[in-house]
Amino acid sequence: MSTLAQPQVGWKCAVCGERVSIGTPLSWRCPNSNEHDTHHVLQIEQPIAPLRSTGDDNPYIAFRKYLAWDAFAAALGMSDHARIALIREADAAVQRVAGTGFRVTPFARHDALSDALGFTAAGGVWVKDETRGVAGSHKSRHLFTEMLHLLAAEQTGTALWSTPNTRPPLAIASCGNAAFAASTLAKAMSWPIEVFVPENAAAELTDLLLSVGATIVRCPRLANDAPGDPCVHRFREAVANGAIPFGVQGTENAWCLDGGRTIGWEMADSMERVSGPPLDRVFMQVGGGAFAACGSAGLYAGGLRPKLHAVQTQGCAPLARAWQHATASGGGNNAGPRWSECMWPWENVESSLADGILDDETYDWIGVCNAMAESGGSPVVATEQHIVDAYALAHKVTTIDVSPTGTAGLAGLLAIRGEIANDERVVVVFSGVRRHFMPLPTAQ
Ligand SMILES: Cc1ncc(COP(=O)(O)O)c(C=O)c1O
Ligand SMILES: [Zn+2]
Repeated sequence: MSTLAQPQVGWKCAVCGERVSIGTPLSWRCPNSNEHDTHHVLQIEQPIAPLRSTGDDNPYIAFRKYLAWDAFAAALGMSDHARIALIREADAAVQRVAGTGFRVTPFARHDALSDALGFTAAGGVWVKDETRGVAGSHKSRHLFTEMLHLLAAEQTGTALWSTPNTRPPLAIASCGNAAFAASTLAKAMSWPIEVFVPENAAAELTDLLLSVGATIVRCPRLANDAPGDPCVHRFREAVANGAIPFGVQGTENAWCLDGGRTIGWEMADSMERVSGPPLDRVFMQVGGGAFAACGSAGLYAGGLRPKLHAVQTQGCAPLARAWQHATASGGGNNAGPRWSECMWPWENVESSLADGILDDETYDWIGVCNAMAESGGSPVVATEQHIVDAYALAHKVTTIDVSPTGTAGLAGLLAIRGEIANDERVVVVFSGVRRHFMPLPTAQ
């Protein structure tokens, strides 16, 4: 059986242009990225056409040949058989811990939501429902290719350690869905993980992490800390001391940008069985940006080109600001070399009901801007009222138990509904489940 995956797959830094071959183990960051210059991000270069699912209900098997991971593992000498077996074994381990493995998630026109928003039968709102995925959000999709990378490197003897009991710990700076997903995958593989959380992280969040065995490290600001998030400082120190970056920011671990595309591949594949015109727009809520960058890249690989609307809240919109600067200084496309002129941390982040997308910096902004430029899309800044209304509407007309962060894309749709024709076909992704401690919306 052939061990050859797609030979054209490779990494290229969207800022400095450095290339990294796909078979390089532990290739998390651009080689030119360092503690003084973090403005680098490796992106996948890969022609995909045509996109075809094998029909398997596990997306990593169904779309395996398009995963950069598959090319990586083939380059390490793993056979097709061994690559499939590794995915299946890791998935079974996840299933034992999470109660579900990785399965293609529901995606369909939502008639009641479409009616409530005044769309005609020709148009409507398609909802991708991520709430019942592994660890309750799409974050696990990104992390699974990081985990597969680690497992393949370990199995082939190309990692820096050689046995499971000499594994360095995983590290992540987050206390939301990404941390829970990372800790869930870590537990499934019995891999130690350190989660760097704010000093005053709420007990219900840390309890969730403790329930899957994470080591929690609270991060007060230290007297000699540089500006910026102390959790990120402690995370980077841990990585400098040998921990493995295991988060959902392409700047820290580019392999998250691989598996995140499954969400878009699934949508594109599913639309092949829907008659009528293609999708016109997709609304994706943006925190660090990996979700929107990957979801849109996945859709576009399937030949669809809906306008991407990247949605942020009024009190934290660094991506919308970056888009303005990029379009005024040479265009939204390929703005990576203009990082310092376009993207910097939002100065005064205001709280929001959609508290999962309040990253002060959109780390994966280049990929999101490229997708908006290529599709004729644009950023949307939703007011807090739109955020509140979208959460209420989702709970009123759907039976999906989605969180306020998960309905933030819908808030973007509400914000520009007046600009959208009634026969357009639009997509929102309900990206995360409502946790038991999140109040339901008050009845409207
Ligand atoms: C439910 C949910 N949706 C969307 C996002 C945004 O993803 P990203 O940070 O990759 O932009 C997050 C991030 O935390 C999230 O928790
Ligand atoms: Zn670089």
